[in-house]
Amino acid sequence: MSEAPATDSTPLCSVDELSTHFAVNRGPFRKGGVVRAVDRVSLEVFAGETVGLVGESGCGKSTLGRTILRLIEPTSGSIHFEGKDITKLSSGAMRPLRRRMQIIFQDPYASLDPRMSVRDTVAEAFEIHGLVKNKSEADERVRSLLTKVGLRADQMDRYPHEFSGGQRQRVGIARALAVDPRFIVADEPISALDVSIQAQIVNLLKDLQEELGLAYLFIAHDLKVVEYLSHRVAVMYLGRVVETAPSRELYDDPKHPYTRALMSAVPVPDPETKRSRIVLQGDVPSPIDPPPGCTFHPRCPIAEKGVCDREAPPLVALKARPSHKVACFKAEG
Ligand SMILES: Nc1ncnc2c1ncn2[C@@H]1O[C@H](COP(=O)(O)OP(=O)(O)OP(=O)(O)O)[C@@H](O)[C@H]1O
Ligand SMILES: [Mg+2]
Repeated sequence: MSEAPATDSTPLCSVDELSTHFAVNRGPFRKGGVVRAVDRVSLEVFAGETVGLVGESGCGKSTLGRTILRLIEPTSGSIHFEGKDITKLSSGAMRPLRRRMQIIFQDPYASLDPRMSVRDTVAEAFEIHGLVKNKSEADERVRSLLTKVGLRADQMDRYPHEFSGGQRQRVGIARALAVDPRFIVADEPISALDVSIQAQIVNLLKDLQEELGLAYLFIAHDLKVVEYLSHRVAVMYLGRVVETAPSRELYDDPKHPYTRALMSAVPVPDPETKRSRIVLQGDVPSPIDPPPGCTFHPRCPIAEKGVCDREAPPLVALKARPSHKVACFKAEG
């Protein structure tokens, strides 16, 4: 993990009390319910910074990432990008901003059109945005992007099926970079790849960040990778951010019992600092009928009856370390 980049006070991207709820039909004899996929989340990402987003499957990471990019409509709350409120912008008004905020998907097999050559895949975005004058300028730009992501310029006339998973993900990254973004949501960009090539893609993302000053919201299951890449980390549970802190601090001194449980499952290289494994009881509850109070309380080893099952704890900063925030009534500050 590198040092956090110097930040001015305005985040590149921020969300405030953002919620994304989905109406779902629960079968013919039951009335519909609401999935609170993202529930009153506040988060900031500064220019040049990586914010890691972790949490068990179904806790709302992808929905949050996509809502920030306005690929999914938020239910309430606000989204700011480059200082501007983009929560309610029309698709026409969003178009010039789309260039600046991109996404890299998990599955490089599903996210590339098999009928399009690499050249067309990468050039499509900047041609739509009118960023090049003619075909030769477009080709030149594709060549330079391919080289930037570690592919050969002469591979541009090939099709996705001619590439390995790692190479396809490089094409996906080149496509995202084609429009000069400042902010990229990387939604589990390595989890579909062979373990042996995951590190190459992680290091590519890191190098590109240094070269281009990109900001990432990096969504992943692998806490080791998140620690390596992220300046700050946010932990989600059932649609809410339960803890956020600078990366090193979160890994050294997690406060929320859920974060502690996640961390305790990560192997540590130094046996002296061996953590005892905390096994969580039960499954993640349904986001349609979340438990009252703190949604983690039924699985929490330190939950207190009459306290944790009454109200949802707010995300508050630790007195001594304002950059470290925890949503737990029982966590020691
Ligand atoms: N379009 C939708 N309609 C209804 N429910 C949805 C929709 N999209 C997501 N959900 C639900 O919202 C919750 C959050 O899903 P999401 O995909 O954001 O989780 P995630 O943290 O990205 O999970 P994973 O780690 O498995 O990718 C889940 O309960 C999911 O079933
Ligand atoms: Mg997801």
